[in-house]
Amino acid sequence: MAIKRPRGTADILPGEVEKWLALENLARRISRTYGYAEIRTPIFEHTELFARSVGDTTDIVEKEMYTFLDKGGRSVTLRPEGTASVARAYIEHGMSSLPQPVKLYYIGPFFRHDRPQAGRLRQFHQFGVEVFGTAHARADAEVIILASEFFRALGLDDLEILLNSVGCPVCRADLARRLREFFRNREREVCATCRARLERNPLRLLDCKDEKCRELIRTAPTPVDTLCGECRQHFQQVQDYLRLQGVPYTLEPCLVRGLDYYTRTAFEFVSPHLGAQNSVGGGGRYDGLVEACGGKPTPGVGFAIGLERTLLLLETASKDVGVPPSKPFVFVAMAGTTEEVALSVLYRLRRAGIRAEMDYTGRNLKGQLKHAARLGAPYVVIVGEEEIARGTVILRDMEVARQEEIEIDALIDRLEKREVKQL
Ligand code: HAM
Repeated sequence: MAIKRPRGTADILPGEVEKWLALENLARRISRTYGYAEIRTPIFEHTELFARSVGDTTDIVEKEMYTFLDKGGRSVTLRPEGTASVARAYIEHGMSSLPQPVKLYYIGPFFRHDRPQAGRLRQFHQFGVEVFGTAHARADAEVIILASEFFRALGLDDLEILLNSVGCPVCRADLARRLREFFRNREREVCATCRARLERNPLRLLDCKDEKCRELIRTAPTPVDTLCGECRQHFQQVQDYLRLQGVPYTLEPCLVRGLDYYTRTAFEFVSPHLGAQNSVGGGGRYDGLVEACGGKPTPGVGFAIGLERTLLLLETASKDVGVPPSKPFVFVAMAGTTEEVALSVLYRLRRAGIRAEMDYTGRNLKGQLKHAARLGAPYVVIVGEEEIARGTVILRDMEVARQEEIEIDALIDRLEKREVKQL
């Protein structure tokens, strides 16, 4: 039986890859414009990194990590998200001694062992940014604006930005206490997951998707009720900066997000077209993360956008991105025993950056012309024995089915003038 790819993974084939390149190029272009430098971190990390940062009571760490022992007996994990790795790299490379803030972006694969469905994969891809070394609300607004600029550039303008503040450890402790109190006599009314979380991570009860839990949560205390003065002011500033740039948002008091490192700002980009997996990107501030990973106390803020979900949205909106796979511009055909000259013409064209192709299967001239037409090459160079003797080849324009004899040395010049370069 033929071997298939693992469930929840995808092959990105020619035709599709070009869309990915377009997304990645856009992500790079916008990130650079906003002053972010690219970082690439390993695909696997010590498991401890995620337990300490993402939080060991989160779904990701409790259920979804690809964790295994390596040959040296150390527990390693395929990265389920990027923020922890970037924070680790920030500490490991002494980036706190660079001018602050340090602004980084990344694009790459991430892994979560969840039940695959539309928009939810086990290997998926994110474009993310992280800013370290500033607690200023301008940075929170900047990353939100950057993400919305990415979606706007793609023509995805019906996304909603949900915004909340989950407060600092001080106001969060207050909220946790009030939530425990609120749910104390209602323990039997909440789902099993919420019941288990009530002691260890009560904030997560706020974003439970269970119908009955949602009903209860409507009257539960939320972060906005318990924000301390400084957090309240910071939250207000973030909103002021967004309004200043005309970026609309919706306040969502129950938004707490599924990772434990968030402090203050939390946000999500949601779409009405994605069904259950409606979040296409999300992020927030994480002022305690660097310290939790063993660094000096350093504030930070960032987001990650899911690229598969972005592509799904583009498809739903019938928006085309990316150029089609590159077709040959010239097909070099052999008439008779002219292989040597034909190969030299082929490679001269390619060296000049012209997309040139030839036959590999021994087709006769007629077959080669047919093949060139099937590949969609607008020009064919026919290398014939008689023409070689005169230092020429035949250049055939496939669209108008007209051909002319042309000196080999003039060929590149002529074709370069006509080619529209791709990719
Ligand atoms: P997250 O909300 O877990 O945040 O993931 C961000 C985005 O990645 C989601 O909105 C979604 O589009 C995509 N995503 C997540 N899981 C899957 C999956 N199984 N299949 C397909 N797409 C998925 C983070 O990862 C944080 N590190 C974001 C962040 C950066 N916060 C601060 N800085």
